[in-house]
Amino acid sequence: MDPKDVRKVAIIGGGTMGHSIAQVFAQAGIEVNLVDVKAKILEQALRRMKGNLQTLADYGKVDAKEIPYILGRIRTSTDIAGAGKGADFALETVVEIPEVKKRIFPKWEKPARRPPFWPAIPPAWRFLKSSKSKTPPAR
Ligand SMILES: NC(=O)c1ccc[n+]([C@@H]2O[C@H](COP(=O)([O-])OP(=O)(O)OC[C@H]3O[C@@H](n4cnc5c(N)ncnc54)[C@H](O)[C@@H]3O)[C@@H](O)[C@H]2O)c1
Repeated sequence: MDPKDVRKVAIIGGGTMGHSIAQVFAQAGIEVNLVDVKAKILEQALRRMKGNLQTLADYGKVDAKEIPYILGRIRTSTDIAGAGKGADFALETVVEIPEVKKRIFPKWEKPARRPPFWPAIPPAWRFLKSSKSKTPPAR
């Protein structure tokens, strides 16, 4: 798939990495479905994105008038099974616990189009495939 054809992405995990990546996609005009286990975490993610964008606006890097439109491209949900619906692209940014990461994608139910998966951390993904240990390798 050509990256220019990506209109909607699903991001599983709204923590430090997930909220930042969601924001960058939304700034690029791409719709985001940001998913986490608790609504409270997603509310915090939205607050963090709003704060980040305001800081960027203060430094003249983002037009403040654009902020509501950028945030408007981000939907949040706790529905992990349905996260990939309609998404052209998906990535996970959940906690660095192999058992949690392994469970993310098998939960998905027949997305409209099968999205390509892009794990946030390729070395960690390789580790999941190659190791039965629950302990992540040293960074
Ligand atoms: N923070 C960094 O600087 C950094 C840098 C490089 C790589 N990473 C990697 O990125 C990934 C995420 O790291 P982070 O710092 O954003 O972690 P984080 O703890 O800030 O966020 C992880 C999020 O995953 C959510 N989560 C846990 N289980 C879930 C599930 N089953 N479904 C959906 N969401 C779930 C948690 O609620 C949390 O909000 C990890 O693999 C980490 O190693 C982080």
